[in-house]
Amino acid sequence: MGKIVINGGKRLFGSVCIHGAKNAVLPVMAASLMNEGVTVIRGCPDIADVRAMCGILNHLHCKTDFKKGCLVIDTSMAEYEEIKAEDTKQLRASSVLMGPVLARFGKVRLAYPGGCSIGSRPLDIHLHALKCLGASWSVSEDFIEMETTGLHPSEITLRFPSVGATENALMAAAAQCGTTVLYNAAKEPEIESLCAYLEKCGAVITGAGTECVRVRGKGVLQSAEFFAKPDRIVAGTYMAAVAACGGSVYLQGVTPSLCRGFLDVFTGMGMDIRMEGEAMLVQMYHRPVNLHKICTGAYPDFPTDMQSMVLSVASVGEGTLILKEQIFENRFKYVDELNRMGSKIKVEGNTAYIEGVSGFTGAQLAAPDLRAGAALVLAALAADGISEIEDIEYIQRGYEDFEGKLRSLGALIERVDSERD
Ligand code: EPZ
Repeated sequence: MGKIVINGGKRLFGSVCIHGAKNAVLPVMAASLMNEGVTVIRGCPDIADVRAMCGILNHLHCKTDFKKGCLVIDTSMAEYEEIKAEDTKQLRASSVLMGPVLARFGKVRLAYPGGCSIGSRPLDIHLHALKCLGASWSVSEDFIEMETTGLHPSEITLRFPSVGATENALMAAAAQCGTTVLYNAAKEPEIESLCAYLEKCGAVITGAGTECVRVRGKGVLQSAEFFAKPDRIVAGTYMAAVAACGGSVYLQGVTPSLCRGFLDVFTGMGMDIRMEGEAMLVQMYHRPVNLHKICTGAYPDFPTDMQSMVLSVASVGEGTLILKEQIFENRFKYVDELNRMGSKIKVEGNTAYIEGVSGFTGAQLAAPDLRAGAALVLAALAADGISEIEDIEYIQRGYEDFEGKLRSLGALIERVDSERD
């Protein structure tokens, strides 16, 4: 396992290009299985989760070719295989393979992706949606098995607007003849991106990005090209880095609408944000001012994936913040790491109480998951002195060259091989 060494306290200046959205590209990669042709994904991020999904597609006898941000997937020779446990365990997004594999092959057996450190992450909503569409399933301790004698249109209501369950339902619906209506669908931008791809494959979709989506499939989907939008959470991560460290950074390709749900949090904390040409300029020249209370929620509320980054900023902000996590049940595991740096944070149930401190010091840290790992990097950049962050493989799942881009902004940050290996 690698580690990152940071000498904090430097302000950030320069320009950074925000890579394509992980959570938009992964479902499109899964959906490519349904068109028995070629899918071209432009602006594809070179991150561990994309490489892992390519590995699963190769296991299903698909060809993948990834060069300079362009991923070409040929699924014309795809054959059914069980999806290996070691693959689904490393990639939570493997859950969105259920719909496409079921639609293509009439059956699917995959090791339970399971939870990770942010929560149990059950799949009951996915299974309910696919059962409505004609699948029968059984779940053992370790595996999910599903089969169908033929998917059929349906009217489906999700008990919660699950992003992954919405994606599985939309994909399975798009691959068959007839109209399916999905109520209480997730409204995240990544859902709209997936619907745009499915329409290019031949489905007719109305209501994408709203709580009611209608999908009219034509039974056969054709080859298509997909252009990934910038990753809004990665953009928010660099905004949080500037908020915590101070400075002035251009975020290439980012617009205020991409940052819906968290832009107002940063402006409220005192950040200046304006467009200059194709870039969004974010500037912070004083200590952040903490807001009273923030609650995470389904889009367009404040996104759970930004929770840990904003908490890192609030740790050095002026005043107190109450941050309530309403999506996942265990997403404050990194708080102990911040408190070892001198933060004053108390967690009670799903709520964190933060008392901003005027500065904190570097420490030996370990990344517990993807977004918490990014948050620890931000905290280390803002801290005085040296920090070392282990288990950076989590961070590499969702951030392309994170340390290289931060270094280009003036951060003193290096990646080294960990002695633990
Ligand atoms: C997606 O996860 C994202 N991952 C997550 O981003 C993101 O945090 C999450 O949506 C919420 O926005 C990808 O897109 C690959 P959910 P997903 O189903 O689909 C519960 C990151 O950092 N639930 O919307 O798994 C679940 O336990 C990752 O990039 C059920 O109870 O999220 C959670 O509490 C982290 N039963 C809530 O719903 C189900 O069948 C939201 O989960 C499904 C979900």
